[in-house]
Order: sequence, then structure tokens, then C-alpha cells
Amino acid sequence: MRIVLVGPPGAGKGTQAAFLAKNLSIPHISTGDLFRANISQGTELGVRAKAFMDAGELVPDEITIGMAKDRMQQPDAANGFLLDGFPRNVAQAEALDAMLTEAGMKLDAVLDLEVEEDEVVKRIAGRRICRQNSAHVFHVIYAAPKTEGVCDQCGGELYQRGDDSEDTVRNRLEVYHTQTEPIIDYYKAQGLLVTISALGEVHEITKRAMDALKK
Ligand code: AP5
Ligand code: ZN
Repeated sequence: MRIVLVGPPGAGKGTQAAFLAKNLSIPHISTGDLFRANISQGTELGVRAKAFMDAGELVPDEITIGMAKDRMQQPDAANGFLLDGFPRNVAQAEALDAMLTEAGMKLDAVLDLEVEEDEVVKRIAGRRICRQNSAHVFHVIYAAPKTEGVCDQCGGELYQRGDDSEDTVRNRLEVYHTQTEPIIDYYKAQGLLVTISALGEVHEITKRAMDALKK
């Protein structure tokens, strides 16, 4: 299956993607995680992306689209993938369509996680992620690690993302409304959109998503 996950910052895309990718046996491809890995490795791409991420702005398409395409062309993605955080504007959605059409492939569904703004602000404020692997995500109240500040999965140190500060979060939400939300109509017009509520317990939402994808 080829699935795109959309939703505002803090909706739980990364959290759900980890479970959905496992259930569906497809790789979880997060452009945010790819950027963060490049930043921690000090690559040129990471250096170019960092200022945009710190400001809560989208990294320019000419950097993002190439990086996402390279990842989707890896052998483990040949039979499907779950995209988290890409596409994030209509130009990226069109580039993805063009790439898939050229390869004789298509998307199966676009899963939209719906959560109100008050809740995403609470989720982001309490989020802590692992220095060793940014896919290891916790929350000080909703998903607390067994030992404060330590990752349950690998023992790495937990920290708060630089772009999770109040001002940057406000800008990320604004960028989501103006630049990312238009892709919802874009995919609705293609008959691919599946919307579920992302409120409630994590595993309940995964079940809701799996049920919606089976339809
Ligand atoms: P990215 O890393 O994609 O960030 P985002 O979209 O803002 O999403 P988040 O990671 O903030 O949230 P999430 O929905 O994954 O929530 P999570 O599961 O962590 O992008 C970061 C930046 O990179 C962008 O701002 C941009 O600069 C750049 N970028 C990335 N992709 C790009 C692209 N395509 N084009 C251009 N630029 C790009 O959950 C949040 C918290 O809530 C966690 O603490 C979690 O434990 C908790 N939680 C999750 N589910 C629940 C639940 N059901 N109940 C209670 N708590 C929950
Ligand atoms: Zn970890």
C-alpha cells in the first residue's frame, strides 16, 4: 500500500505511523525525521534545512522533493510506503503524483488525522523525543517514559525539539493552514481522502485508521 498521512503539527502522525507501518509491513517515511537525521549528522542538506525548521517554515521544495524521492526509491519502499509529513503543499503533491505516474504506481489512500488546535498545542508542549532516534516519541503526561528523561526503547536522552517552542508552534500551525490544508481538497478531488478523528487513546486511533483503510 502507498499511503499519505496528513494532519496538523502534533496531531500524532509520527506516533500513528510507527504502528500503521508495522501493521501494514511498509516503511515509515517521515521528511521531518529525515531532516533531523541530516541535521544531527551535519550534512549539507541538514545545514540548509535547519534555519527553515527552527523558524517553523517549510523547507524549500527544491531540497525537500529530491530528498523524499531518494528515500522512496530505496529498495525497502518498492512495494509500498507510509509518508508522514510529505507532501506538505500542492506543488509537493503534484511532484509525488508525477513521480508515481512515471513509475506506473498510484496512491491507495490519504489518511487525514483530525484534531482541534487546543489539543495539538497540549500534545506539542509535552512532547519529548530521543536523541538517538527521533522516531522514539514520548509525552510527559500522555506517554511518559518509565524513567524521566530516558528513552524506553534505546536508553537515549530525551529532549524537547527546538521547533516545539510556543512561538514556533504558532507559526507551524499558520503554515499548516495556509500551505498544507489545500492538499486535503486536492486529494478529496481524487477520491483518496479518508478522515478520522485523532482524539482518544493511541491504540484506539490506530484501530480506527486500520478500519478506515480497509474500506
Ligand atoms: P515534522 O517533523 O513533520 O513535524 P510536524 O508535521 O509539525 O509534526 P510533528 O512531528 O510536530 O507532530 P506529529 O503529528 O508527528 O505528532 P507526534 O506523533 O509526535 O516537520 C518538522 C519541520 O520539518 C517542519 O516544520 C518543516 O520545517 C520541515 N519539514 C518536514 N517535512 C517537510 C516537507 N514535506 N516540506 C517542507 N518542510 C518540511 O505526537 C505529538 C505528541 O503528542 C507526542 O508527545 C505524542 O506522544 C503525543 N500523542 C500522540 N498521540 C496522542 C494521543 N492520541 N493522545 C495523547 N497524546 C498523544
Ligand atoms: Zn530512543
